[in-house]
Amino acid sequence: MAILPILQTGNEILRQKCQPVTKFDADLCNLLNDMKDTLNDAQGAGLAAPQVGVTKRIFIIATEDGVVEFINPVILGTSGSQYGVEGCLSVKGFWGDVKRPRKVTIEAYDRYGRKFKYVGKDFLAKALSHEYDHLDGILYTDKANDLREEV
Ligand code: NI
Repeated sequence: MAILPILQTGNEILRQKCQPVTKFDADLCNLLNDMKDTLNDAQGAGLAAPQVGVTKRIFIIATEDGVVEFINPVILGTSGSQYGVEGCLSVKGFWGDVKRPRKVTIEAYDRYGRKFKYVGKDFLAKALSHEYDHLDGILYTDKANDLREEV
């Protein structure tokens, strides 16, 4: 268990397209445990593997039922829309408004390689969209208008 350094915007790794996980092994479990520690320490809403320097299709999200792990996620569908403020642990000190779907349905694998389906609404739909974008090298700042600096 460890708190990992979070890469900041400008780092090339954040712009890479991440590769699927092929081995559901102890290394994967260690990475997920470290990501969870890192997310809790940073008090963030979500964290994607590239943010800690690993270009794999993995992200985690803090929900009221605890941290949920998404490995090799596929977005099955989206509906509705919402427009609201977002920040990112890799873009410290900034906020911006982004348009996102109101509801996102995702299929992914857990750390044991079991496939599951997850439906996120409202805040969770926003978080799922934001974290999924990280896996394709997209930051919310690419989509936000009126990026604001924290004062
Ligand atoms: Ni982010």
